[in-house]
Amino acid sequence: MTPIEDCREWLRNSSPIAVLTGAGISAESGIPTFRSGSAELPALWSRYRPEDLATPLAFQRDPELVWRWYDWRRGLIARAQPNAGHLALAKWERGCDRFTLITQNVDGLHTAAGSSRVLEIHGSIWTLRCLACAAEWENHATPLPEIPPHCACGSMARPGVVWFGEGLPQGVWREAERAVRACRLLLVVGTSAVVYPAAGLVPMAREAGARIIEVNREETPVSSLVDRVLRGPAGEILPGLLDS
Ligand code: OAD
Repeated sequence: MTPIEDCREWLRNSSPIAVLTGAGISAESGIPTFRSGSAELPALWSRYRPEDLATPLAFQRDPELVWRWYDWRRGLIARAQPNAGHLALAKWERGCDRFTLITQNVDGLHTAAGSSRVLEIHGSIWTLRCLACAAEWENHATPLPEIPPHCACGSMARPGVVWFGEGLPQGVWREAERAVRACRLLLVVGTSAVVYPAAGLVPMAREAGARIIEVNREETPVSSLVDRVLRGPAGEILPGLLDS
């Protein structure tokens, strides 16, 4: 059997299934990944690494700069459509009893594709949180009318995403860990697997005895841990893999 036929058979015969996605699954929707290099970024943002902007310290130093970056990303995402990879996962969920989709992405494209239950372990770019009273609300305005945006209580708001050095939302993370420990098969799609604790879900599945399939354009630190590697764009590989 070819690697893809093996994988199709495992997917048909394994339950529960968990999926971990990263920025690579949204690349074909036109959203730049975090570590893809600066060539595809506008000059203004090519000078910064995510580690320079997505941190509490960066926000403390210059909330306007950090918010301008998020405002730019929100605009890109608002214009983007889910691609064939997101759609294949949503379709797979509908035909699968025990299925958990865990994403590091904050773009909401899995939900837009029709996935009904998504564990957003890094939060959502469409959520704002007050720095003073901790109120959280959804805001889809692009561009934001006010930068930085403020809460009804008058204090500054921050993006409802997880920054480097911060803990993950505990309830969501616990559910992700539980799903990964219980799964018989883990599909890892479009993540560089260098940001922890998310990347730790892959060895966790391995230790729990699950089979693991990686879909990625490039080799990653977890490629050597997995049972099958399917090299290529998720938007091409997932429809072929998941269409039963
Ligand atoms: P990265 O930008 O680190 O990695 C994207 C991965 O997707 C790389 O391994 C690429 O090879 C792969 N890739 C690119 N295009 C692809 C395609 N069309 N099909 C399949 N694979 C493709 O993104 P993440 O791993 O998601 O965190 O990054 C993890 C976290 O780091 C993010 O959630 C974010 C970031 O900083 C926070 O903001 C906390």
